[in-house]
Amino acid sequence: MIGHRTHLSVNEKGHLEIGGVDTVVLAGEMGTPLYVTDEDRIRTRYGELHSAFSSRGYGVKIKYAYKANTSLAILKIFQNLGAGADVLSEGEIRAALHIGLKPEEIIFTGNNKTDEELLFAVQKGVLINIDSIHELERLKRICSARDVRRARVSFRINPAVSPKTHPYLATGLRGSKFGVNHKKALAAYTSAKEDQNLTIEGIHMHIGSQILDPTVYAEATSRLMDIVCELKKKLGIDLRFIDLGGGFGIKYQESDRYIAASEFADALFAVIDDAVARCSLKRPEIFIEPGRFLVADSTVLLTRVNTVKETPFKKFIGVDSGFNTLARPAFYNAYHEVVVANRAGDGAKEVVTIAGNVCESGDILAHDRSLPKIVDGDLIALLDTGAYGLVMASQYNFRPRPAAVLVSAGRWIHIRKRETFDDLISGEILPPDM
Ligand code: LLP
Repeated sequence: MIGHRTHLSVNEKGHLEIGGVDTVVLAGEMGTPLYVTDEDRIRTRYGELHSAFSSRGYGVKIKYAYKANTSLAILKIFQNLGAGADVLSEGEIRAALHIGLKPEEIIFTGNNKTDEELLFAVQKGVLINIDSIHELERLKRICSARDVRRARVSFRINPAVSPKTHPYLATGLRGSKFGVNHKKALAAYTSAKEDQNLTIEGIHMHIGSQILDPTVYAEATSRLMDIVCELKKKLGIDLRFIDLGGGFGIKYQESDRYIAASEFADALFAVIDDAVARCSLKRPEIFIEPGRFLVADSTVLLTRVNTVKETPFKKFIGVDSGFNTLARPAFYNAYHEVVVANRAGDGAKEVVTIAGNVCESGDILAHDRSLPKIVDGDLIALLDTGAYGLVMASQYNFRPRPAAVLVSAGRWIHIRKRETFDDLISGEILPPDM
């Protein structure tokens, strides 16, 4: 067990194991960089969230946020667990349909949706979560111009609250680009109600990501429920569902508080219960859209040390990954725990900085960490990389994106091929006369 991570352990050889699989053996067979995901850990996290939310007297549906990790094998795990999908692009809608999800289980939230994406969603019968009044007008036009069936809709509301997270991860601030401002909600629903092609089904918010203070959910939900009450009173609309979004944070480092799923549920349902009673609402179905909470700590990124460089100021450990493989440290100064996987039982000996192999100064994977003495050939594991890891990888510096495997109870299977040089040039067109 590494910290609170019960699915990680150190075996008798001093090697890090995930889901009972020796990471040193795995990296030897599969090469590095390699994303390794523990299927059972995903199931455990899903179970925690599901039981915390579904014991509150409401119908609850977990719409897994595809953007966190879109490996098809992982999408399939969620489908088998009974999750629906929160998607943001035509590609993600297609992925959901591809694995066999029913259109009714998909909610399409995204800003700046194209007309083509809107039409595609309507034709497939996927619920469209409208992000602006302008998008509503475009959707109305699309529905009336084409011989399409009715569109099922909800609105993403911007409740204008601070989620107390990294500024890049806040999405429901007054000044955020997302959603319909809460003060304009009534006008938006009134306009949708007048259109015979639209069926209003729900309301939505998503206030940000990596939120570690449940009270901010209470504040935002209270704004949302005020709108739900107003819709009932003024427009006679009883919404079928309330979607509270995702954003439930995890413990990446010792200084982060570990928040149990029930703490988030407590904060949200206190407000919902109150509004349901106060406004005599029919009990709505509750949707949540977690990504990180479900997949982040299921995964380690294995990367090999090739260079040890001592400067007068710092000791750099150079590895075969960079922000092309794991963007989060460079993008958000995000912290990922580092373990020397082939000597995971050794104590800390020195302070080092794990440097990526991208040709940019910002490409540091971990700053100033106390670790065992590291030599070239050692295997580094970056923990909690299952959310926004592989999906944000790029081919920058003309390097292929990594492979991925799924482990469970001591066995592993390959779920994503390592790219090759052919993949790097597959979209390129070299004009014949050049
Ligand atoms: N619903 C909507 C509408 C979203 O935009 C997101 C994430 C989620 C649900 C899931 O949020 P989660 O439960 O995973 O926090 N790349 C960043 C995170 C960006 C989150 C974008 N939206 C990172 O690496 O931290």
